[in-house]
Amino acid sequence: MKEAKYIWKDGQLVEWKNATVHILTHTLHYGNGVFEGTRAYKGKNSKFAIFRLQDHTKRLIDSCKITALKCPYTQEQLEQAQIELLRANLDSFDGNVYIRPLVYLGYGAMGMDLRKPPVNVAIAAWEWGAYLGEDAINNGIKVKTSSFARNSVKSTLNKAKAVSNYLNSQMAKYEALECGFEEALMLDENGFVAEGSAECVFIVRNGVLITPPHDYALESITQDTVVQIAKDMGISVVERRITRDEFYIADEAFFTGTAAEITPIASLDFRNIGNGQVGEMTKALQKRFFDIVQGRDEKFDHFLTYID
Ligand SMILES: Cc1ncc(COP(=O)(O)O)c(C=O)c1O
Repeated sequence: MKEAKYIWKDGQLVEWKNATVHILTHTLHYGNGVFEGTRAYKGKNSKFAIFRLQDHTKRLIDSCKITALKCPYTQEQLEQAQIELLRANLDSFDGNVYIRPLVYLGYGAMGMDLRKPPVNVAIAAWEWGAYLGEDAINNGIKVKTSSFARNSVKSTLNKAKAVSNYLNSQMAKYEALECGFEEALMLDENGFVAEGSAECVFIVRNGVLITPPHDYALESITQDTVVQIAKDMGISVVERRITRDEFYIADEAFFTGTAAEITPIASLDFRNIGNGQVGEMTKALQKRFFDIVQGRDEKFDHFLTYID
């Protein structure tokens, strides 16, 4: 990880190495915390711009509400904090930046009563390139259907970007990597396609772009962006359930996420998707997406918050 200079911690900019927590931090033990993942790209006039800052920060506030964390800052204050942090670290960044706000239960009380420990907030930002690698973006990845079902809606709060939800993701990713794949595709408890370990998913069949509903997936901001781009490009988009066998016979498929951006899927469970190459629709959507996040598309410029 490429370190930056400062981390925002409970209202102060502190030096990266000093942004530490006590070993009895509540979230470390019991897993109630929520976070965001937001990207800032170098765009117009080489200025950094945060992509969909308001939407990511709103989702953080919503995640707090779902998990009963009383965030001590407003959405507006958290947005300003992210801008302030980027400004303070600008000298540390050459390439694209990943921003990680985290709301967690701190030091002061143990046990299951989440009302007792303090609620702390930290925001880190560091330079982070393509999550699954440049080659993944250009040539696609090999994916395995996970033996782990996505978190059940009967017991987990999937609309929250909650720390604890990512145990399920890590188990799926670990299994996929150890089996020689690059990412996991997770099915819901009824066997329908849910999402990747940290990405939403799309397939293309007969010129139609298809993505599963959010019942078992995070309400993804990149997925929403892709849907908006596709509609703007005149592509039909359908939100409906997808089965594993339908995925095998898709013409194209790709993952979407803030970290993963638009990563094509070359194969699933040893079956090539289409001819195993990156499909034409995927390429067109990728190009438009990178134009938008890098400030080359006036129509979607409202998604960008420039850092002066
Ligand atoms: C489980 C999960 N699903 C989907 C996504 C994609 O969401 P977004 O596009 O908002 O980053 C992410 C990443 O944040 C994720 O962790």
